[in-house]
Amino acid sequence: MTVQVPPYLLNEHYDDRYFDVVDALEEAKHVFFQGCGILDILSTRETLRIGETGFGPGRLLISLLDFLENCGIKDISVTYNSVELHPVTPERMSSILGVFRTEAGQLIDPLVEAYSRIEIERPGWHQIRLAGPFGLLTLNLWIGEALEMVHSLTAPCDAWFLDGHGPKKNPSIWRPELLMAIGEKTKTGGTYATFTVAGAVRRGLVAAGFSVEQRPGFGGKKSVLKGTKLY
Ligand SMILES: C[S@@+](CC[C@H](N)C(=O)[O-])C[C@H]1O[C@@H](n2cnc3c(N)ncnc32)[C@H](O)[C@@H]1O
Repeated sequence: MTVQVPPYLLNEHYDDRYFDVVDALEEAKHVFFQGCGILDILSTRETLRIGETGFGPGRLLISLLDFLENCGIKDISVTYNSVELHPVTPERMSSILGVFRTEAGQLIDPLVEAYSRIEIERPGWHQIRLAGPFGLLTLNLWIGEALEMVHSLTAPCDAWFLDGHGPKKNPSIWRPELLMAIGEKTKTGGTYATFTVAGAVRRGLVAAGFSVEQRPGFGGKKSVLKGTKLY
């Protein structure tokens, strides 16, 4: 069966969609936030350091802001390190995230407004801050290639959202060298989550020091992965 991808969701660089439009906020919570045990991490401390490959139009970030606003947690500080090789314009971000206006409308305009102040043509780190009832989120966005971003992180992450298109469409973001570098920039006991269960990805994650655990997927996807940095 051929699945029709709405044209605005297609990343032309990879001929793949940024995310599935059906229940994408809920999917993010199930696959990434539950998979990484975000609430468990926040039950023991007030800081959270996340890594993401790649940023796209910011669906995972909007989903995380929505999740944090509704989970009742206060006074936390979240550092959100992400990377994007082909940044979208603020106009495109606004139009793509517009599909979430019913559920998370109040979050979209502040994010787009802050993102519009980033010079997306300039490679390297950019920073924006977003405040909410949960506390403060600092987005550190690297414009460029994922391995460069991981190498330039100065502190290891608690959790990684691996969301860089399917490995068939974009093998480079799943290459062993990059997964190894991500492992080196993860605290022991830190977590990752991803939507793919591909064998090459699993092997790369094991080589990088992570456990690999298959769990039920979301919205028609049978299984997804999560794991922990073992050493
Ligand atoms: C599936 S989309 C990400 C969706 C995003 N997490 C969201 O929630 O909206 C994957 C993104 O990774 C970016 N990307 C792919 N390969 C990359 C690489 N090697 N380095 C940096 N970014 C990359 C793509 O341009 C794309 O925007």
